[in-house]
Order: sequence, then structure tokens, then C-alpha cells
Amino acid sequence: MKDKVVVITGASSGIGRATALALAKLGARLGLAARNYPALMEVTDEAKRLGAQAVAVPTDVTQKDQVADLVSEVLATFGRIDALVNCAGVGVIRPIEQLTEEDIDRTYAVNTKGVMLVSQAVGMAMLKTGGGRIVTPVGTMGRYVMRGSAAYSASKWGAVGALKAMATEWQRNGISISLLYLGGVNSPFWDAIEMKVQRDKMLSVDDAAQAIVLALQAPANGVLNEMVLQPESHQFI
Ligand SMILES: NC(=O)c1ccc[n+]([C@@H]2O[C@H](COP(=O)([O-])OP(=O)(O)OC[C@H]3O[C@@H](n4cnc5c(N)ncnc54)[C@H](OP(=O)(O)O)[C@@H]3O)[C@@H](O)[C@H]2O)c1
Repeated sequence: MKDKVVVITGASSGIGRATALALAKLGARLGLAARNYPALMEVTDEAKRLGAQAVAVPTDVTQKDQVADLVSEVLATFGRIDALVNCAGVGVIRPIEQLTEEDIDRTYAVNTKGVMLVSQAVGMAMLKTGGGRIVTPVGTMGRYVMRGSAAYSASKWGAVGALKAMATEWQRNGISISLLYLGGVNSPFWDAIEMKVQRDKMLSVDDAAQAIVLALQAPANGVLNEMVLQPESHQFI
């Protein structure tokens, strides 16, 4: 990953933050995006302390103009983009009777539309430089469902559909797309979710980052299309 330019959305927290720091240790150059500027700056400063070049670009992935600014800022700083890691996401797990229209709109806006806007804009920049990799930790709810996951699963299945369609369009242009179906990851994601879960049995954010780095490091002429990584307690669920 040395000197590879990697854009990470959702870099201010959880899996995105851990991925940024793992890639910083490998010498990647980082374009870090999220809305919470102080948290984003903290990660950016930490990546720099680890020896990486990094730029923080405050971005709401649901806003097309802000996504365009993210791509412009990273290109202006590093001249190219080699990889994108789509970590921006929101979680809602709530019985269908209690699901609000706002829950549906928000999960769709960030998890589906946001992933599409960022992948589209970064992918179009990659096309000009011979390609790159797009890695998205969609989560197992992009593949399975569970009680209360209607809005969340719909948003993630939507992202999966969009990314698979992009792969069919770009697969002969050097752009590879990886979908990582991660099971529960012990991150701040769960703080706002009203469901009893055993966080100590989950994957760690560093486990998730390791899986993302593995996908980024696939052989140059190959692609890690899909991976399911579950906590030991949830095998084949
Ligand atoms: N935790 C799990 O069990 C798990 C498992 C599988 C997959 N995933 C997926 O992995 C991704 C990362 O989750 P996580 O566990 O790291 O959660 P997290 O700690 O809550 O982080 C979510 C990140 O998304 C960013 N974000 C939210 N809305 C955004 C927006 N509109 N624009 C830009 N950034 C936005 C947040 O930053 P700001 O608030 O600063 O914008 C934050 O950095 C999500 O897509 C999640 O669905 C999570």
C-alpha cells in the first residue's frame, strides 16, 4: 500500500478510523472524509504521527456537491486516487411497527445514495488514471436479514445492487469492486441501536480493518469480490 492514495469515508469513527490508521502504518496516502470535523482531524493527526500523508475533507456523503469537493481536494493534494473504502454508514434496527419514515430516508440517504455518489465520483476519477479498487464493508445485513433490519437491510441490499452494477460497467477498465459482509463489529455504531447485543463477542474494528486491507492488497490482476467474515459465535448465520 506504500504511497497508494486511498479515500476513506466514515473515517472519523469505528471501522473507517481503524482502516485509516492501519493504512497509515503501511505508508498509504489518505483522503479522509466524514462530517464530524474535530473527530476527523484527530484521526488525520494520528495518521500523520504514524508517518502517513493525510488530508481531512469534511464531507456529507449524501450531498453531491460535497462529494465532488472531496474528490477535487484529494486530486489537488495527491494527483490521483488508487482506492476508495466506503465506511460512511448509519444503523437502524427497529421493529417494523416502530420504523419511521425518517429511519427509512436516513438509512437510504447515507447507506445507498451516499455509497453510490462517492463510488461514482471516485470511480470516474479512477477511470482517467487506469483504474483502482473500491472496497465496501456492506455488512452481513447486505446479504441476510434479521428481525428489525427492514430499513437497514434494504439500504445495504440497495448498495450491493448498485456496486455490482458498477462492477459490470467498469470491470474492463481496471476498477475492481469488493463487497465485505462483516458480521457484528464492536464500534460506536452500536451506541445508538436499541437492541441487546453482546459487544464483547463481536469482531474488533481492527479485525474489520484487516479484512479491508486484505481486499485492497489483492493481486494486481485479481479482485477479492466478496468475503463473509463473522464473529466465531455467528458462523453461517
Ligand atoms: N459495526 C458493525 O457491526 C458493522 C458491521 C458490518 C458493517 N458495518 C458497516 O460499516 C460501516 C462503518 O460502520 P462503523 O461500525 O464504523 O460505524 P460508526 O463507528 O458509527 O462510524 C460510522 C461513520 O459513518 C460516518 N457517517 C455517517 N453519516 C455520514 C454522512 N452523511 N456523511 C459522511 N459520513 C457519515 C460517521 O462520521 P460522521 O458522523 O463524522 O459523519 C462515522 O465516521 C457502516 O456502513 C456500517 O453499516 C458495521
